[in-house]
Amino acid sequence: MAVKRIMDSSDDSVEAPEERAYENTLRPKRLSEYIGQENLKTGLQLAIDAAKQRKEPLDHVLLFGPPGLGKTTLAGVIANEMATNVKMTSGPSIERPGDLAAILTSLQDGDILFIDEIHRLSRVVEETLYSAMEDYVLDIMIGKGPAARSVRLPLPRFTLVGATTRAGSLANPLRDRFGLVYRLEYYAIYDIKQIISRSARILDLSLTDEAADLLSQRARLTPRIANRLLKRVRDYAELNNDGKIDLGIAQKSLELLQIDHLGLDSADRNLLKTMLDHYSERPVGVKTIAALTGDETSTIEDYYEPYLLQIGLLERTPRGRVVTARAREHLS
Ligand code: ADE
Repeated sequence: MAVKRIMDSSDDSVEAPEERAYENTLRPKRLSEYIGQENLKTGLQLAIDAAKQRKEPLDHVLLFGPPGLGKTTLAGVIANEMATNVKMTSGPSIERPGDLAAILTSLQDGDILFIDEIHRLSRVVEETLYSAMEDYVLDIMIGKGPAARSVRLPLPRFTLVGATTRAGSLANPLRDRFGLVYRLEYYAIYDIKQIISRSARILDLSLTDEAADLLSQRARLTPRIANRLLKRVRDYAELNNDGKIDLGIAQKSLELLQIDHLGLDSADRNLLKTMLDHYSERPVGVKTIAALTGDETSTIEDYYEPYLLQIGLLERTPRGRVVTARAREHLS
């Protein structure tokens, strides 16, 4: 599989190039290496085997769920399993239908096009995508005013893999054009432990079982965070313990990172504390929370809130978000 990142993708936080390279070596390449998400893997394997047997491209795939759970990784896995190329881009970087046309016409038969944050495509680009997905043709307008005319371009038979943190923000006509739709779930702690152990093997780290247990409990049930924690603990271990990660070293570095036993960092605690201070256990709207903490509402909705809801520290009600008694206990 060849991976081409064709446009500036804003998929995750800015990382140093060497960190990005590690990320790539840690990403599983095949479904058999991919830990967790069992239902998704079973469904995807079946669809892939059937498509290969028919010698057809795989149906378009929509992956949704909180950030860091493996949507980008899965796009690469799908390309490897189908033995095709993958091109990676993101919704906000495809500004005009012409940008989409340039990408689609550069694909080859069977290629995978991965569009991250697909809910952020503009309406015109999204509408251009409909005929491309359905009939492998592109209808685009050229020229303006009375001279404008529509041209129809045939496209290679590609597979679109769309990823979004918000399936609810996707227009129905777009969602309906995906034949395979999967929700990525938070991982079980024992899956996270396996992911950490696998990463430690790949990075050739010495990691005790107790340390792996501790890290897996604090990784917010999220592989990206698990791998990030592992790398930070590795830094600390290299400077303080000859690179050996044991329980004491893991505890000490998590303390320095201010990550508590539920995996919350200072920003999460600040969010909960701000809500409690101003609203106690009464409901509050996300815009108000954002104004109080100085975050974007989308950051709260996409990054902080999903895990806090998952572990029962926040609840969503029709009248707003409510901090739970469990959160109050945790903060005290
Ligand atoms: N690294 C990150 N996510 C992974 C997963 N789901 N399985 C194996 N390794 C991973």
